Amino acid sequence: MTILNKMYDIITKAINNSELVVSKNIKFSSIIFGNGINENYLYLTDNLYCLIDLIRRGYSNKIDLIYIDPPFFTNMSFDKKIKINLEDEEIVLKRNDFSDSYENGLEQFIYDIALRMNLMRELLSDTGSIYVHVDNRINHYIRIVLDEVFGEKNFINEIIWVYKSGGASNRRFSKKHDNIYLYSKTNKYIFNQQKEKSYNRGYKPYKFRDVIEYKDDLGWYTLVKAKDVWNINMVGRTSKERVNYSSQKPLELIKKAILASTNDNAIVADFYLGSGTTAVAASELNRKWIGCDQNPISIIYTERRLRNSDFTLLIEKESQKFCRTFDIEYYKDEKNLYLFVKDYINIHNDKLKTKPFLYIEKIYVCNNQNDSFNIVSSLDKTSIKENKINITLNGESNLYIIIVDLFGNIDFHKLS
Ligand SMILES: C[S@@+](CC[C@H](N)C(=O)[O-])C[C@H]1O[C@@H](n2cnc3c(N)ncnc32)[C@H](O)[C@@H]1O
Repeated sequence: MTILNKMYDIITKAINNSELVVSKNIKFSSIIFGNGINENYLYLTDNLYCLIDLIRRGYSNKIDLIYIDPPFFTNMSFDKKIKINLEDEEIVLKRNDFSDSYENGLEQFIYDIALRMNLMRELLSDTGSIYVHVDNRINHYIRIVLDEVFGEKNFINEIIWVYKSGGASNRRFSKKHDNIYLYSKTNKYIFNQQKEKSYNRGYKPYKFRDVIEYKDDLGWYTLVKAKDVWNINMVGRTSKERVNYSSQKPLELIKKAILASTNDNAIVADFYLGSGTTAVAASELNRKWIGCDQNPISIIYTERRLRNSDFTLLIEKESQKFCRTFDIEYYKDEKNLYLFVKDYINIHNDKLKTKPFLYIEKIYVCNNQNDSFNIVSSLDKTSIKENKINITLNGESNLYIIIVDLFGNIDFHKLS
């Protein structure tokens, strides 16, 4: 069997199975950020469950733009080194942001992505578009999946994102680009023509009649229709928008896609959200957003970047990883809650006490009603100076403490 025949079989199987998976019953807890009257959703779950949930909640044909930047079948683990200061020594641990390897290899990768893309197609509106960000390792396979799911006739562009960093070698030309495939659902897709600078030869003025020319520090230029080659800097070490999450993409890149393919108030979704770039870009451009990632660290970064936004966080029950390395003592009266938190770290079966809050990313104090958690107070490690915390209460009851550590473990404590 040729690789192409094999691929068509896998994709057909995934498309047929996507109808079956929609009947799966999935439960989510929710935490409301902001005033609760919002239409922005952040899912902490495998995106398969998020896609199913959105279809069941009536989002079919409602999403105007999907941007996804899935793992590129690199067979790599994307880790960050974390330094922890124990009371008398410093240790370095590895935090896994995400891993990109598949037990059943390429076939599983293609099946998983085809299944999800078919559900994304269902969610996309008739005027909507999807941008799929990949690189040379997987682009040829993804293009076939997209042709099968969205139809060859709905292919719009292959965008080449060119950057300066990475990819240098003495054995080949330096690899300095990613590929972004743009497909629509129908031929009624929105496309707002974008303009870009085109510098005149020699940076000198042409002075043609009816052509408006501009000048900047480099020289004279005209504005032309934007091309499918995008020169945008990567998020570098010193970049202001950098949040230290593996594979973070620049806001400018995603904003360009949003501006070209949606209008105000559109719904923009990203089901491989990472550090939250798509949600931030959508919010800054007055669009509604839906984001999903299965890694709690991604959710923490997204929440930090969207501090002033309203959204509902939906946590799939099975994705809650429990960790028993926190001791919480508390004292409560009508008006105050006093928390004493000690964090420990387990290394080689030893329970070692760390300095307070080195290990904790975030603490939420919530009150709970029917699986919905309303935030009474939220603290992150930059705002916590000692291990005793005083929280003012306004008569709330049924309180929970939710602690997220820097490895993405989530710990729910019910206060009796
Ligand atoms: C390349 S990163 C995305 C980076 C993002 N574009 C940004 O600017 O930060 C891919 C993300 O997909 C997430 N991911 C991979 N498989 C997933 C799945 N099945 N469901 C949800 N998230 C997934 C990983 O946890 C990772 O955060």
